[in-house]
Amino acid sequence: MEFSKKLQQLPPQFFAALVNKVNQALAEGRDVINLGQGNPDQPTPDHIIEALQLAVTNPGTHKYSPFRGIAELRQAAADFYKREYDVDIDQNTEVAILGGTKIGLVELPLALLNADDYMLLPDPGYPDYLSGVALADVQFDTMPLTADNDFLPNYEALSAEICERAKLMYINYPNNPTGGTATTDFFEQTVQFAKEHNIAVAHDFAYGAIGFDGERPPSFLQAKGAKEIGIELYTLSKSYNMAGWRIGFAVGNAKMVEAINIIQDHLFCSQFPAIQHAAATALNDEQTCVEQLRELYEQRRNVLVEEAHKIGWNITAPKGSFFAWLPVPAGYTSEAFADLLLDKADIAVAAGNGFGQYGEGYIRVGLLVEEERLREAMRRVAKLGIFSPNVAR
Ligand SMILES: Cc1ncc(COP(=O)(O)O)c(C=O)c1O
Repeated sequence: MEFSKKLQQLPPQFFAALVNKVNQALAEGRDVINLGQGNPDQPTPDHIIEALQLAVTNPGTHKYSPFRGIAELRQAAADFYKREYDVDIDQNTEVAILGGTKIGLVELPLALLNADDYMLLPDPGYPDYLSGVALADVQFDTMPLTADNDFLPNYEALSAEICERAKLMYINYPNNPTGGTATTDFFEQTVQFAKEHNIAVAHDFAYGAIGFDGERPPSFLQAKGAKEIGIELYTLSKSYNMAGWRIGFAVGNAKMVEAINIIQDHLFCSQFPAIQHAAATALNDEQTCVEQLRELYEQRRNVLVEEAHKIGWNITAPKGSFFAWLPVPAGYTSEAFADLLLDKADIAVAAGNGFGQYGEGYIRVGLLVEEERLREAMRRVAKLGIFSPNVAR
C-alpha cells in the first residue's frame, strides 16, 4: 500500500527524532540529562485535577461535546482575557476551543489559504508550523529572528514581493526557541504592517505566562486594532502543566475564529467535556500556581546562566519561555555540538538548525529539570574542556 502524496510530503517530525535518540541512550543505561524537549516536568495543580475528577462523575460529560466546546469554557476564556489583559472577547463569536494549540496552528492555513498561497513564518520557529504548510499545500517565506534585533522580525527588511504575497503570518512571544519577548509597541507595529499588506496574524502565546525579571509578556490583542486582523492562541499546556490534557483556545478576530470552527466541525467533536470543565476551573480560579511556576522557571534560568558563565560559556539570559538559546562554541555546527553533548556528556539538547536556517549556531536548552541537574549538566560541559572559565570565546 502506498501513502498518499500529501502524507509523503509531510516534514519529518523533528521532536520524534530527538526522542528516539534520547531513548536509545537511556536504553543503554546512560544517565541522560534531557534538556531537549518542551515537556513541562511539574504536575498539574491539584485543584484542576480535582475539578476533572468531579466532572468525570457527572454523566453529562460522557456525551458528545457541543461541536464548538462547552459554553462554560468559552466564557472562562473570555473572562480570563478580560481579567488578565483587559481585552474584551465575545464567547459566542470570538473563541474557538482547541485540542491543544498545535491543532489550531496546523488548521489555520487549511482554513484560510488556497494551494500555493504564501505564509510568513519566523526563522527560527516552532517546527510544527511547517506541518500546516505541508498539509495545506501552501508556500512560505521566513522572517529571520536574530540576536541583534532581540529575536523580533524586522518588517522593514522584508522584500516588497514577500510582503505582497503573504496572506497569513505567525509570530510567537515569549519565543520558542530563542526565549525572546515582545512589547506592545512591537505588536502595534505588527498590526500596522499586517493591515498595510492585508495579512492575517496569528500570535502563538504558548509561553504567555512565563516572563522574567518582572516583565509580564503582553497579549497581542492588547495592541490597538489587533482584533481587526488577528487572533491569539493560548494553551493550558504550559501555564498549568496540562500538556497531556490537550486543551487550548484561539481568541480574537471573529472571521478567523469562524474559519477554525468550520474546519473543526468536520474534524472533531471538540474535547472530552470533563477536560473542558477542568480547563474552565484552571482559567477561572486564583492563579497562584501560575506565579509559582513562573518563579520556578526564573530560578532555574538564573542557575543555568550563572553556571554557564562560571565555566566560560557566555550565554544570554532568556527573557521569557522555558527555553534558553545558547550559542555553540567556535568550530562547531549546531548538530555537531548537540551530538558531542549527547555522546560525550550524556546531555540531550535540541540542535538550533532544526528550528530553521537562522537557528544554525545555537542549541536550545529546556529549563525542565531540577536545578541540581542543570548544575550537573554544566559540570559535565566544563569537563569537555571546550570553554575556558571566564574567558570570552
Ligand atoms: C511555540 C509553541 N506553540 C505551540 C505549542 C503547542 O502547544 P499545545 O499543542 O500543547 O497547546 C508549543 C508546544 O510545545 C510551542 O512550543
